[in-house]
Amino acid sequence: MAQYSSANDDRESALQREYMAKAAQYVAGLERELGRRPCCCVVTFGCQMNARDSEKLLGILTEIGYESVEDEESADFIVYNTCTVRDNANQRVYGRLGYLHSLKAGKPHLRIALCGCMMQEENVIEKIRKSYRFVDLIFGTHNLFKFAELLVTMFENREMIVDIWQETDQIVEELPVRRKFPYKSGVNIMFGCNNFCSYCIVPYVRGRERSRAPEEILQEIERLVDDGVVEVMLLGQNVNSYGRNLETPMSFAQLLREVEQIDGLRRIRFMTSHPKDLSDELIDVMSRSDKICRHLHLPLQAGSDRILQAMNRRYTKAQYLALTEKLRTAMPDIALTTDLIVGFPGETAEDVDETIDVVRRVRFDNAFTFIYSKRTGTPAAAMANQVPAATVREGFDRLLKVVQDTARERAALLRGSTAEALVEEVNEQDAALLTGRLSNNMLVHFPGDRDLVGGFVNVSLDECHGFYYTGHMIRKAEAPLGKTVDGNG
Ligand code: SAH
Ligand code: SF4
Ligand code: F3S
Repeated sequence: MAQYSSANDDRESALQREYMAKAAQYVAGLERELGRRPCCCVVTFGCQMNARDSEKLLGILTEIGYESVEDEESADFIVYNTCTVRDNANQRVYGRLGYLHSLKAGKPHLRIALCGCMMQEENVIEKIRKSYRFVDLIFGTHNLFKFAELLVTMFENREMIVDIWQETDQIVEELPVRRKFPYKSGVNIMFGCNNFCSYCIVPYVRGRERSRAPEEILQEIERLVDDGVVEVMLLGQNVNSYGRNLETPMSFAQLLREVEQIDGLRRIRFMTSHPKDLSDELIDVMSRSDKICRHLHLPLQAGSDRILQAMNRRYTKAQYLALTEKLRTAMPDIALTTDLIVGFPGETAEDVDETIDVVRRVRFDNAFTFIYSKRTGTPAAAMANQVPAATVREGFDRLLKVVQDTARERAALLRGSTAEALVEEVNEQDAALLTGRLSNNMLVHFPGDRDLVGGFVNVSLDECHGFYYTGHMIRKAEAPLGKTVDGNG
C-alpha cells in the first residue's frame, strides 16, 4: 500500500472542488427545469461515524445548490447512508427502498443514492442490482470523499453507477461539512478497526485501522471552535488504540492532553473505548481534566469468560470488573455505559447470568442490549452452535430487566443536585422546555428561553424519570434576573 501522504489528499480535495463546480451546473439546470430550488434529503442509519459522514455528504450537496429537507417526499435527491452492524438495520433499508420506488414512480427526476457500510457487502450489491434497479448511485465507505465526482458521473449517465472500493489509504477531510448542531460536532480521529471481534462486521466494511495525524485533528477542532463549537466528540471504533500506527506514535491520552489546550472548547467526549486498551494514563488524564466529560462508554458485550474468549474480546470478566472499579475510584461521579449482546453462538443461560452479574456489580448508568445478529463472513456466523431464538429472547428479557433497574437506581442518585448542562435544543414535546445534556450524558428538561440553546446553564435536578430529569435553572444570585445565567458563555 502507498505511503500515506497528506499532499496527495490536498490535491484530491482540490480535484473534488472542481467536480463540485461542475455538479453545481447540473443542479442549476435542474433548478431551471423545476422552477424552484432542488431539495435533498440525507437519511442516516447506524453510529456516530455515519452521522459525521452524512454531515460531509450534506456539506457537498448544499455547496452544489441543493436545499436540505427532512422529509423524503419533498426531496429531488435522496441519500441513504446505511449501517450493517445487525441485520435489522439492513431490513429497514430494504423496507424503505420499496417506498422510494413508489416515490420515484410519481417523480421521474428523483435521484436515489445508497452509501455506507451495507454497500461494502457483495451480497447487498447483488441484491440491489437485481431487485432495486431504480437506484441511481451506489458507493461505499472508502470513497465517500469522491462524492462530488460520483455525482457528476451520475448526472451524466442514465444507468446505475456502482463504485465500491475494498480499501483506501487516503484521509481526505478538507471538504465542505454541514453540521447538524452549531455548538457540537463529531471529529474523526481514526478510521476502521483491527480488532476482529468474532461477531462483528465493522472491520470488513470499514477496513483497517488508520489514525489521523494529531496536527490535523487539532486544526479541525480549532476551526470548529472558531465556528462556535463548544463540545467535540472524538470518534473511532477503538479510540484507545489511537496513534499506534502514526509515523511518530502517540497515545490517545496524549492526544486528549493536546485537545484540552484548545481555548474556547468546553467539553470533550469520545467514543468508543475498548476495555483491553484502556490505559492508566487515560484514567489519569480524564480525572485531572475539567473538559473531558464524566462519561465513559465501555462495551462489555458479555460477562462469561468462555463467551468473551469466543468473541475474541481479549479481556476477562475479572479484568473488566477491576477496570471499572479503577475508573470509579479515580472518578466517583463518572457515568459508565456499555453494550451487551445476548445469544452469541454457544451462550447458555448460565453465561447470561455472568453478564447479569457484571451489570449488578458495575451498576451501569445505561446499557444498550442487543440480540446477537449473524453477519455473513464473520467467524461467529460459521459457528455450529447458534442459539435458538426463544432461548435468546428469554435471556434478553432477563438481562434487560436488570439493566433497566440498575440504570434507574443510578439515575435517582442525582436527585436534588445541581449540574452544568449544555442546552441542546427546545424540547420536542413541549416548546416551553429546553433539553440540556449533563457532563455525564444524562438529559434534563427545564423551562427556559430558546436563546439559551448552545450555551451552558446550571440546572437543579428535581425529578428523576428513570433515564432523564426534569428540573429548573439556577441563576447566579448577583446576576440581573433574565440576563446572565450562571456558567453561560
Ligand atoms: N467499536 C465499538 C462498537 C461498534 S458496533 C466497540 O468495539 O465497542 C456497536 C455495538 O454493536 C457493539 O458494541 C456490539 O455490542 C453491537 N454489535 C456488533 N456486532 C453485532 C452483532 N453481530 N450482533 C449484535 N450486536 C452486535
Ligand atoms: Fe467491532 Fe470489535 Fe471493532 Fe468494535 S472493536 S468495531 S465490536 S470488531
Ligand atoms: Fe453501522 Fe457502520 Fe457504524 S456498520 S455501527 S454504521 S461503522
